[in-house]
Amino acid sequence: MANASCILKNRKNIILAIESSCDETSVAVVRNGREVLSNEVISQIDMHTIYGGVVPEIASRKHIEVICGLSDRAVGSAGISKSEIDAVAVTFAPGLIGALLVGVNFAKGTAFALNKPLIPVHHIRGHVAANYIAFPELEPPFMCLVASGGHTLLLGVDGYTDYKIIGSTRDDAAGETFDKAARVLGIGYPGGKIIDRLAAGGDPAAYALPRAKVEGCPYDMSFSGLKTAVINLIHNAEQRGEELDLHNLAASFCMAVSDMVTGRSIDACREFGYKKLCAAGGVAANSVIRRELEKGAGEAGIELYIPPVGLCGDNAAMIGCQAYYEWMEHHTACMELNAYATLGADYDYSGMFF
Ligand code: KG4
Ligand code: ZN
Repeated sequence: MANASCILKNRKNIILAIESSCDETSVAVVRNGREVLSNEVISQIDMHTIYGGVVPEIASRKHIEVICGLSDRAVGSAGISKSEIDAVAVTFAPGLIGALLVGVNFAKGTAFALNKPLIPVHHIRGHVAANYIAFPELEPPFMCLVASGGHTLLLGVDGYTDYKIIGSTRDDAAGETFDKAARVLGIGYPGGKIIDRLAAGGDPAAYALPRAKVEGCPYDMSFSGLKTAVINLIHNAEQRGEELDLHNLAASFCMAVSDMVTGRSIDACREFGYKKLCAAGGVAANSVIRRELEKGAGEAGIELYIPPVGLCGDNAAMIGCQAYYEWMEHHTACMELNAYATLGADYDYSGMFF
């Protein structure tokens, strides 16, 4: 097994990273934590669109079909040979269990065949690490807003593997709310990108939408009221035979989500003493949220980091990056590694049965 001192001496650590927690199969090759040699992604969106959401069994079956070929492609486009791989990393939690198991089993097989360490990576920690790729100078401590299809979290990142949860959603995730609103509007899947596009040029004050607060927990969030408000708005308009202005509704919706995450992120930085704020996850691609975070952070004198849109969604490069830091802490796994549908980003490695 490799240890931290051997990693530090050998500055050419090449990690093959695998991500299959939802509807994207991705394999990447990452050197020394932050240098992405390749990052191959196959999206299944087309296959799930007709169902209006991800169908878990279809997702698992598609991952298993493409993962071997994609791994070869990632190694090839990185310009390395398999014998140069120093470790294999994989998303082991959280996510769709069948989808995770495909990646975990493939990673195990690869690590076993190459006789290299296996590094389990938490998906949300991976999203946070997308910032290390985009901003080579960035180091913890910082606050990170993670907003994806399955999670909405405010995380205090005090070290590369030291996380504390400062706030989280009590019900739907921000991305899920975008997707559900788009489904009711009948404008396609996944909804976030489509609503974002429609919002351009719309009036964000045109429709009054709620911004929920969780009593006694200023950093927790709740999106179910916003989802219900949009559904009611659509149904009422249908009953009255009125036409909704989609651009204005999309702009109002984006602003409502943004108001719920932006203010909390800035306030949490102030209260907990973080001078840097990062954003991560698919919803961090949203133009309104990016703009409002910039405005809020600028006014508060907080340094803001948001990865480019291409690194906000699911990809294996972010998993390879976080894997490097997990490896430095000896966070490797044995061949009994399992996958977990749910697990907090603040999980304790020593409490896991790896
Ligand atoms: O991080 P991600 O790719 O996968 C998960 O880990 O869930 O996030 C996917 C979510 C979806 O709900 C999608 O609608 C949302 O991110 N999303 C967006 C945008 N692009 C993707 N939401 C708002 N605005 C966007 N531009
Ligand atoms: Zn994700």
